[in-house]
Amino acid sequence: MPGTQPKRREYDLLLVGATGHTGSLTAQHIVRHFPPNLRWVLAGRSEAKLQRLRESLPLNPTGIGSPNIQVLNLSESDRDTANLDDLIRRSCVCISVVTYFAVGELVIRSCVENETNYIDAIGDVILLERLIAKYHNTAERKGVKLIHAAGIFGGVQNLLAWAAARELAQQASLKTQEVALAMDTMKLIPSRGTIESFLHEAGRGKDIRKKTLEPWLLSSVEGSPDILNSTNKMNMRINMDLGALSATSITAKQNQLLVHRSWGLLKGSQEDYGANFKYNEYMRGVSAMLSLLTTIGHPFVDWLLGFKIVRNIVRRALQRNHPTSPGEADLVVMEAVAIADVENPDEAPRGYATLRYPEGPYSLTGLMLAQGAASILYSGRECEKGGCLTTALIAADLIQRLKGADIAIESTILPY
Ligand SMILES: NC(=O)c1ccc[n+]([C@@H]2O[C@H](COP(=O)([O-])OP(=O)(O)OC[C@H]3O[C@@H](n4cnc5c(N)ncnc54)[C@H](OP(=O)(O)O)[C@@H]3O)[C@@H](O)[C@H]2O)c1
Repeated sequence: MPGTQPKRREYDLLLVGATGHTGSLTAQHIVRHFPPNLRWVLAGRSEAKLQRLRESLPLNPTGIGSPNIQVLNLSESDRDTANLDDLIRRSCVCISVVTYFAVGELVIRSCVENETNYIDAIGDVILLERLIAKYHNTAERKGVKLIHAAGIFGGVQNLLAWAAARELAQQASLKTQEVALAMDTMKLIPSRGTIESFLHEAGRGKDIRKKTLEPWLLSSVEGSPDILNSTNKMNMRINMDLGALSATSITAKQNQLLVHRSWGLLKGSQEDYGANFKYNEYMRGVSAMLSLLTTIGHPFVDWLLGFKIVRNIVRRALQRNHPTSPGEADLVVMEAVAIADVENPDEAPRGYATLRYPEGPYSLTGLMLAQGAASILYSGRECEKGGCLTTALIAADLIQRLKGADIAIESTILPY
């Protein structure tokens, strides 16, 4: 099958958007975790920034070779397109961490045309729906892997949902009817790219934003119509394994669509989650009163953000605090439980998966992108599928790589 094993090309790895916040963290993980013989290239639109990034990388301890740098402006112009195509054609795997809503598609289009495997951290599900409609079939036919949403939002949740459902299937021969995921509250100081993406999404028309409420929007197969998440009047849920949960996760809808896409992609395979599968996401550490207030206030905030003037005020307020260099330190904790598809699930075993990461959400995104690229580069045969995929499709290999990088990611069966 073409594209399943990266062909021998000049570069093993290309990092586009290397000079951004997430890009530079990704480069640091590559330096720490890839083998010394890696042939890699950093691309960005400013030569001075690329030079500074290369000089800042701690290359000596691991002996990894210094990356080449390549100035690359992303635009529709013939000259910029030719430069991008040339670089993509010379690379086996491309990691993209550019501002996706503005220039992300240019990189994807080039990867599909030039048969280069690809990974990103897109969190914008409306953009992703359009990209899937445009590129999935061609990428599938050519055997080109496009792993989308591999970051802290979407990528990690997909891995934990896969791992919890897998435990239930392998240890108890049970299918999963629901994965419930709890995220501990965490400090997220948004980067420039996150602020711009968030405000871009908030500025879309109401009808377009409403699409994110369709739970199977990104899945090629329609799933169970019953996606109730069993919350009480305070919008809380008590789960016997995860504790008190609040339905106030702002990424719950987006991640539901991404995990449901994985369900559709894995349907009929050995890793099929089960016919009645659904995913629900919650926050932990939110009081019942705050949960209620957040739920009531959410539609009002959503309405306010529809005004450009409000978005400009928010942009200015957030930009004042956003970090200008990597190095934030904050604990990320997530736990997922796979609930069995049986009549009385409280009396059945549950699959359980957890991840703890002490260096903050953007660093974890960089690590996921670097290790995901390693999965594609070094273990291409694990997933022979091409198309617009998710981290669930490379989960078995990626989880082993994360463990090898000392990430606390574990799964087990919880007996009844
Ligand atoms: N879902 C998740 O888990 C997750 C997590 C983290 C980030 N993200 C997303 O990842 C994206 C990047 O985030 P970030 O925090 O790294 O943003 P950032 O610091 O603003 O970096 C954006 C990068 O894109 C480059 N870029 C923008 N326009 C370009 C153009 N026309 N030509 C060439 N390069 C261009 C920038 O180049 P310059 O350096 O020259 O400006 C920069 O390197 C955002 O869309 C964000 O939402 C998602």
